[in-house]
Amino acid sequence: MKATAIAPANIAFIKYWGRKDAKLRLPYNPSISMNLSECVTTTTVEFSRDFEADSVTEGFGTERILKHIDRMRKLAGSNEKVRVITQNSFPKSTGIASSASGFAALTVAAAAALGLTLSEKELTMLARLGSGSACRSIPDGFVKWEGEFAYSLYPPDYWDLRDILVIIENKAKDVSSSAGHDAAPTSPLFQKRLQALPSRIARCEHALRTKDFIALGQVIEEDCLDMHRVMQTQTPPLYYWNENTKQVMRDIKKSGLPAYFTIDAGPNVHVICEAKDEKRVVECLKNWKIIVNKPAEGAHLV
Ligand code: DP6
Repeated sequence: MKATAIAPANIAFIKYWGRKDAKLRLPYNPSISMNLSECVTTTTVEFSRDFEADSVTEGFGTERILKHIDRMRKLAGSNEKVRVITQNSFPKSTGIASSASGFAALTVAAAAALGLTLSEKELTMLARLGSGSACRSIPDGFVKWEGEFAYSLYPPDYWDLRDILVIIENKAKDVSSSAGHDAAPTSPLFQKRLQALPSRIARCEHALRTKDFIALGQVIEEDCLDMHRVMQTQTPPLYYWNENTKQVMRDIKKSGLPAYFTIDAGPNVHVICEAKDEKRVVECLKNWKIIVNKPAEGAHLV
């Protein structure tokens, strides 16, 4: 059987960094994110007795994809070979992490193609085994991942925010976040971050609940900087920013606009603002290549 699914990437307001169980991808802390309308992966999965071998179009790591397919074949009791075709809405060279959208789309498409009937919660748990942040790309809009699964806090139309993604060219090869997670506890700042997180998460949820944009922006930036301090002080250290990353961070702060930055495991900068300020923020970023994202629904079949 054959199925196609589309899934968004997501930007974490409160980051997932470090995992208690590497194999099960169980995080030390809950994380909160927003799905991105313009950064999506479309994946077609087909199983057939007629295929002689598994095949995967180049995506986010053939071996990791097939491991995930094996997991799902086992669940369905299938031994049919697979064909996986993946397409990203964003160019590969941009260095946008595609594992979240990739594993979310793969999970939803493969479940349908295998005839598995799974709840959204079960789909998030499965996607998590492929890539942690992928579980947040399955529910709609604004999402919280806590322990084994993720769920929607608010639908996409709850709050008209923007994530203006600034694409920073990166010549150096990105370090995979998987290895980085495992080394996180070696940072002397790791425990401190864990201690700070419960109240930070409460502040983030309160800001979402009350639509207090300044409070939301401040807590987003605070957690981004805290996670990157952990990354930079772990062994071996991970340093994802380059000169352009820092320039955008400075430009945003200097502009005095109600806009806040956040950065994942790469040099790109996500600038978060309200829809009413989009024009002014885009103007401030006019010398950079950008993608303007709105809050989006989660992974679904097409
Ligand atoms: C910095 O989800 O890519 O983007 O579970 O190994 O696939 P794996 O890690 P991944 O880590 C994402 C880390 C982050 C923060 C976040 O998105 O929460």
